[in-house]
Amino acid sequence: MDYKQYIAEKLHVDGVSQAEIYEAIALPPNSEMGDYALPCFKFAKALRKSPVLIAEDLKNSLQTDDVISEISAVNGYLNFKINKDGFVRATLDKILTEKEKFGASEQGAGKTVCIDYSSINIAKPFHIGHLSTTVLGGALYRIFNFLGYKAVGINHLGDYGTQFGKLISAYKRWGDKDTVQQGGIRALNELYVRFHQEAEEHPEYDDEARAYFKRIEQGDEECQTLFRWFKELTLKDVQKIYEMLDIHFDSYAGESFYSDKMQPVIDELREKNLLVESRGAQIVDLEEYGMSPCIILKSDGTSLYATRDMAAAMYRKKKYDFDKCLYVVAYQQNLHFKQFFKVLELMGKDWAKDLVHVAYGMVSLEEGTMSTRKGNVVFLEDVIQKCIDKAAAILSEKNPNLEDKASVAQKVGVGAVIFGALYNNKIKDIVFSYDKVLNFDGETSVYVQYTCARAYSVLQKGGVPERFEIPALTAEEIELVKALAAFPEAVNSAAEKYEPSYVARFAVDVAQKFNKFYFDCKILAAENEQTKNFRLALTNATLQTLKNAFALLGIGIPEKM
Ligand code: ARG
Repeated sequence: MDYKQYIAEKLHVDGVSQAEIYEAIALPPNSEMGDYALPCFKFAKALRKSPVLIAEDLKNSLQTDDVISEISAVNGYLNFKINKDGFVRATLDKILTEKEKFGASEQGAGKTVCIDYSSINIAKPFHIGHLSTTVLGGALYRIFNFLGYKAVGINHLGDYGTQFGKLISAYKRWGDKDTVQQGGIRALNELYVRFHQEAEEHPEYDDEARAYFKRIEQGDEECQTLFRWFKELTLKDVQKIYEMLDIHFDSYAGESFYSDKMQPVIDELREKNLLVESRGAQIVDLEEYGMSPCIILKSDGTSLYATRDMAAAMYRKKKYDFDKCLYVVAYQQNLHFKQFFKVLELMGKDWAKDLVHVAYGMVSLEEGTMSTRKGNVVFLEDVIQKCIDKAAAILSEKNPNLEDKASVAQKVGVGAVIFGALYNNKIKDIVFSYDKVLNFDGETSVYVQYTCARAYSVLQKGGVPERFEIPALTAEEIELVKALAAFPEAVNSAAEKYEPSYVARFAVDVAQKFNKFYFDCKILAAENEQTKNFRLALTNATLQTLKNAFALLGIGIPEKM
């Protein structure tokens, strides 16, 4: 609830949507007239009435309440004065009774949103490039659930392709069971890198790799077993990261899951006359739509990434009957998604409009970017660990007697990595800097966490009041309450625009306003009991709201720092 929203909800103008009314409400130049005003000129044409009359009629249809203390119609404007006391009371009551549900809603009840995120590749390093998809997807998953949707988290594993033939070939030639078992992804990646190096001089290795891949596909016992083992090792390794980042999936159906589900797609494309032959390959021509063709089958009859994605989309529609299916994937794949969405549309799937590519920008490290080919990748696990270690060092310096330091450092370090990826508009490329994400005074998670620890400490000393009255309010208090009241809107915007940064920015804004309040208004040493109780309640409501916001982002909040 914000003031504007509150007013908009009360107003009904024939033929004008709530959203339009909301947009039209403005701040009057002179606050003598009111805190908010609705200019009625815009509606004159539609209603065939003069603005003056519209404003007067609206005024007569409305009543003042706890929030709106005065309504007046002046020269075609409908003016509102806000009862700050009522607004503050209503907002705090709402937060303190709804608690961890504050900001949640049932707007998505009965609707399903599939979210394809993280979607890692088997036997490949989980590097910093996977950070955004994992934490963005994880946040969207929680946000949609919070709004009453049924979110389905899907890890569309990259577990199909000749690279697995390469891996088998490399393992058989140079691999060792124990080394791989213990080394996990890193050992597998080393084998893969070595294969690429040596295959340059031994092109016959590539033929061998293709043959092995064929054997996987044909269900050859030995190859299948090795492949399953590589997959298990990879998932075991990434599970550690998922646990740290609080990431969950409902399905791990990856590319290979669709190997027997592509034929019907190909048949349907053929039936609908969409397939054309081009240099031996089967393609869907998309020239008319300004795109290069979507290749469905290569000349050797093998399928492609797009073919599997089409089978996956059809499978998901059937299995989950989604209202939306989101793909949280880097913008480098823009064309791929545009292509196969278009092909599904051409096939007459009316639900193709519900497929959304949630594109995001690149993350690179300040220390320099990586090169997968040469094998010098930066593992996400190492980035997270480094952040935890740095957090531990900073905490030791700031608060040498801190109890439970390891667990606090874990929350601060992991939070910094997550927040670093979620704070900016997702499409922006970001350069990850340890110093920046761990800056206690920046627009960071640790700044918010520290603010929460401050609130915890105040509440521990002053207690949580059972009842409170509204005293004469200060500007800082009103500003803070206004910020808190905007939480549901921030969550809604985050879902609507697939942009968790709304929630991250909201948290920083609230923390900044709380700190202003904290420094300018005495809480424990307030001038009287009524004011003190109110300020404690406000502190409690702030803490609750920040906890809710951070829970959506997957970031923990320590009680002491
Ligand atoms: N595994 C792919 C990659 O790392 C991402 C898969 C995204 N999801 C999808 N349905 N295409 O590039």
